[in-house]
Amino acid sequence: MDKFIIQPTDRLQGEVHVPGDKSISHRAVLFGGLLADGVSRVRGWLRAGDTLASLNAVRALGVQIDEITPTELLINGTTPQRPNAPLNLVNAGTGIRLLAGLLVGQPFPSVLDGSEQLRRRPMKRVIAPLVQMGANICGENDRAPLTIKPAKLHGIEYTLPVASAQVKSAVLLAGLFAEGQTTVIEPGPARDHTEVMLKAMGADIQVNGQSMTIKPVLPLKPFDMTVPGDFSSAAFLMVAGCIVPKSDIIIRHVNLNATRTGLLDVLQAMGGKISVTETGEEAGEPVGDIHVQASDLRGVEIGGAAVVRMIDEFPALMIAALCADGETVVRDAAELRVKETDRIAVMSAELRKLGATITETPDGFRIIGRQTLKGAVVDGHDDHRVAMSLSIAGLVAEGETTVLDAKCTADSFPGFADVLRVLHARIDVVQ
Ligand code: S3P
Repeated sequence: MDKFIIQPTDRLQGEVHVPGDKSISHRAVLFGGLLADGVSRVRGWLRAGDTLASLNAVRALGVQIDEITPTELLINGTTPQRPNAPLNLVNAGTGIRLLAGLLVGQPFPSVLDGSEQLRRRPMKRVIAPLVQMGANICGENDRAPLTIKPAKLHGIEYTLPVASAQVKSAVLLAGLFAEGQTTVIEPGPARDHTEVMLKAMGADIQVNGQSMTIKPVLPLKPFDMTVPGDFSSAAFLMVAGCIVPKSDIIIRHVNLNATRTGLLDVLQAMGGKISVTETGEEAGEPVGDIHVQASDLRGVEIGGAAVVRMIDEFPALMIAALCADGETVVRDAAELRVKETDRIAVMSAELRKLGATITETPDGFRIIGRQTLKGAVVDGHDDHRVAMSLSIAGLVAEGETTVLDAKCTADSFPGFADVLRVLHARIDVVQ
């Protein structure tokens, strides 16, 4: 099992790129493979644990995918075929939930499964609306494995109980195979990569504020795209750049889609010296460079609609809050409890090993800042964002920090330790 050994650092300096956006990379193989007629080309594809799980599932559905380089794919879009074994999405929540939407309207049965971790995650949120559409899908106690049998689907109007891009996407994708139109209404601005990509592929999808309507027009056009860097990977470096004294770093070519950049606004509100230069557009998404300098952060309150725009960034935010002056309060973030791990409980428990004091609440946490962290042995719990956040904490802790189970960082950010080393962090990977 890989572990990271991290020494405190007094300065991060330099320019780096982060790997391709995970959400877009999942969608590229799923939509290019199962919805388009013809060859799609994708460059800058995120070759990581989660996205490889989607790629393998698409292949098992009869789609040929040529790997020109590890990050450049040619996807030969075609009508999916019956897989001859359960599809294994490993740890990928996005993979399993989007595939559920894509497969319920197919004329063949399928089973969607994954790791023990994925089997613990709630699937009722996709099963319920898909069943309303006429789908024959069930889980074991509403969890994976999900068993799908052929069924005739009809469009519905569905108001999401929680803002979730995965659920929104599953319903819209099923809508492509349903009779009539399907409308999804979301309570908050969940990431809109599905809508952006489907539109670019020629789908009949109308977006009106928080409501989107899709009609069953298939097949879609193939695409040629370059995936921009993942803001959620840049997030760890942004926090590190703010809290490590004397830091001055630039993260190039990052996706700046406004449904994803909540942490940028929050760190700036905390006093973070962060500036962004938009440099263009990639795959229909705004792209730019992020310049971060060491900052005197102060605490902040976060709740309501702001939460979904940074839902994956709360583990990293905890580290910023521990270093900030004053109190940080997070509310309305109960979704954190059903991610790869219960991120409120797991982050609090691991940070306590570094000497931190954190108050957990049912839907968030409170942290009084300016805490002194002390290096210790902590565990990544097979949750990539937990392992990376703990590594960032190690940069400002006194003495040595060891992050066990750090291999999972490659689920979304392969080369995380290398990128930190380019910035002159002292981090060793030990097998
Ligand atoms: C994702 C949606 C989010 C996010 C996940 C990726 C996506 O999950 O946490 O990392 O690509 O659609 P929810 O839809 O459960 O909020």
